[in-house]
Amino acid sequence: MIETENLTKKFGDLVAVDGVSFSVSEGEVFGFLGPNGAGKTTTVRILCCLISKTSGGARIGGYDVSDEADSLKIRKMIGLVPDNVGLYEALSAYKNLDFYGRLYGCPEAQRKENIRRFLTMLGLWEKKDVATGTFSKGMKQKLAIARALVHDPQVLFMDEPTANLDPESSKTVRDFILELRKEKRTIFLNTHNLDEAQRVCDRIAILNTKLMATGTPEELERMVGARRAVIRLEEPSQTVLAALKKRFPDVDVTADGTSLTVEATDPEKQTPDIVEAVVRAGGRVQFAGVVGSTLEDTYLKLVRRDA
Ligand SMILES: Nc1ncnc2c1ncn2[C@@H]1O[C@H](COP(=O)(O)OP(=O)(O)O)[C@@H](O)[C@H]1O
Ligand SMILES: [Mg+2]
Repeated sequence: MIETENLTKKFGDLVAVDGVSFSVSEGEVFGFLGPNGAGKTTTVRILCCLISKTSGGARIGGYDVSDEADSLKIRKMIGLVPDNVGLYEALSAYKNLDFYGRLYGCPEAQRKENIRRFLTMLGLWEKKDVATGTFSKGMKQKLAIARALVHDPQVLFMDEPTANLDPESSKTVRDFILELRKEKRTIFLNTHNLDEAQRVCDRIAILNTKLMATGTPEELERMVGARRAVIRLEEPSQTVLAALKKRFPDVDVTADGTSLTVEATDPEKQTPDIVEAVVRAGGRVQFAGVVGSTLEDTYLKLVRRDA
């Protein structure tokens, strides 16, 4: 649905986006994760046909972002929640959305239905006739999301939609993204928030001017260091340790007090077998979990400029 190849943008001497290639499938929630200044907004502006690229290519639904005729088609297919909300503050929530819907040539019946639907989903229907100038940051952000959806775009770009929101509003926005995913819309989410990327994205690309890595959150976690399954028992047991070593002869099994640690390439998959072996050997399990490298470890390793 979204494809870039060696996409590059220079502002004078400054290279803001450097040879970035990725592809996003239809229905995917794709996280574009990177620190401030990484080039996230610049990339999204190119994909939304708002600024031109310097070199390389980018297509949405097969249409070329730098072809004038194609870009008209792309604009109808996409919605953008920009990094600065920009609403008409004197107009009511409803009128803001209606204005955008008209701008996109969305027919009246569909416009009415979509405005009602998205304002309701975002908990703003009661406030539909209130001027947006009086809205809180969280309410404005939600309205900006509804505005980006009024013409029912297949692809939604969101540029740091939870930045500056309190935890509760951030959660509403994240839950809403998960709702939209059920509708099979393609969502491109810029964020510098690791936790957010991990919670809502099917795949994540880590950007730091260049693309550092792409993968599912689990794949990215596995990029750095070994991971371990840790089982905590009621009491230390040499019998259980011996049984585990016998069952998993090729992996490193260690004991420390009541904790048993099993190095594993895929601990989530192996934990049920490990727990079963422990229980069979008479061990009583208090806790089983996976520790080791996290998305944060991978991210920090990849984006630390002086590393
Ligand atoms: N219009 C512009 N003119 C000059 N430099 C820009 C412009 N827009 C962005 N930049 C620079 O490009 C780099 C990437 O910016 P941006 O895409 O906004 O990053 P992000 O959204 O990841 O924080 C930054 O160094 C920024 O200062
Ligand atoms: Mg930005």
